[in-house]
Amino acid sequence: MEKYIINGGNKLYGSVEVQSAKNSVLPMLAASVLTDDKVKILKVPNITDLKNMAKILSKLGCKVVFEGENLIIDSSSADCFEIPRELAHELRSSVFLLGSVISRFHTAKIAYPGGCDIGLRPVDLHLAGLKRLGVEIEEENGYIICKCEKLIGNEIMLDCPSVGATENLMLAAAKAEGTTVIKNAAREPEIEDLQRLLNCMGAKMRGAGTGTIIIEGVKSLHGCEFLPIPDRIEAGTFLIAAAMCGGEIELKHACAENISSLLHKLRENGCKIHLNNDKIILENHRRPTSVKSVETQPYPGFPTDLQAQITALCCICHGQSIITENLFETRFKYVPELRKMGADITVIDRNAFVRGVEKFYGATVVAHDLRGGAALVCAGLAAEGRSEVLDISHIDRGYGSFEYKLRSLGGDIVRVSI
Ligand code: EPZ
Repeated sequence: MEKYIINGGNKLYGSVEVQSAKNSVLPMLAASVLTDDKVKILKVPNITDLKNMAKILSKLGCKVVFEGENLIIDSSSADCFEIPRELAHELRSSVFLLGSVISRFHTAKIAYPGGCDIGLRPVDLHLAGLKRLGVEIEEENGYIICKCEKLIGNEIMLDCPSVGATENLMLAAAKAEGTTVIKNAAREPEIEDLQRLLNCMGAKMRGAGTGTIIIEGVKSLHGCEFLPIPDRIEAGTFLIAAAMCGGEIELKHACAENISSLLHKLRENGCKIHLNNDKIILENHRRPTSVKSVETQPYPGFPTDLQAQITALCCICHGQSIITENLFETRFKYVPELRKMGADITVIDRNAFVRGVEKFYGATVVAHDLRGGAALVCAGLAAEGRSEVLDISHIDRGYGSFEYKLRSLGGDIVRVSI
């Protein structure tokens, strides 16, 4: 087990480079199973979700090689269609492999996927969409078993714009016979990124980023070399940390367009934000003013993956805020931990009612999930006094070199084994 020890109160100054997007890279690894050629993903983040996804691909018989910051996947020797239970539970994004594995082997077996403890995380939309493509699905002893003669293009209407279901169906439809139309598709930037990768591999897809994606199935896909988009959630996390601590930071390799909903809120908080090509500069030297409300929505609404972090910011603003979590059932597990640091926050159903306090006070807190853990780190950096954040393996799932980057900005944070 490891923990962070943080001495709060330092303002943050300096420049950090944003990692490639975790939620782009993970479905891209699944996409690499669709070809026997090598697929090279550039500048991948140093995160455990990626390492676990690489382990799953190796179990399928793929050769996965980390070459510096780049990752090369060679699926030519892939010969297994079963995703082991222990790895599927470790990683929600293992479910993305369903579409790719069925496309390659016309069969797939996966244990119900796990992931952060932020909600039920059903996969009914994934399975309903695969059935529309001709897949027969059985569920037995906690496993999903899929079979099909061949994948046949069809029209699919998603009940809700699920990111994972959209990506899974893009992967399954890439080499299906005929045309597939996905309606009410998710519009996240990572969906567009996946479409760019697949088209770079020879697929014929268009419409990602809108609500309707049209896929003309092709016979085969080939390898390619690809640089994913910047991680908008990592970028947003650093900007919120700077807004809370005060100072002036610059993010390199960032995409302001992909976090425009957050930038709008941070300006409302009184932060000065300058944009310059792929750089975002945030400056703040006073106690932020509260935003009246934040409602998480599918993209381009406010991202649920920044909900915990902006709630931590609201806790030390001047004024009151209401944060509403519309996507996941239990994404407020970090709230009792913020209370230990002095937050005045009440959760009723999907709403967190926050009364801004002057400051956080250092305390020992526990990370329960990836983004809630990141929010506790932001709170510790802004707090008066010493904090410890326990169980930081959750944070390692999505933030590469997190403490190094924060230290380079002047944060007093160290990782300690316990
Ligand atoms: C992706 O998860 C992201 N993960 C999540 O990021 C992100 O929070 C989420 O999209 C929403 O943006 C990856 O990309 C690896 P969904 P996913 O399917 O695909 C319901 C992080 O912190 N739903 O869009 O699992 C579901 O219950 C992680 O980086 C169904 O009902 O999210 C939820 O309420 C956390 N049935 C809503 O849709 C289904 O079959 C959104 O889920 C699928 C989803």
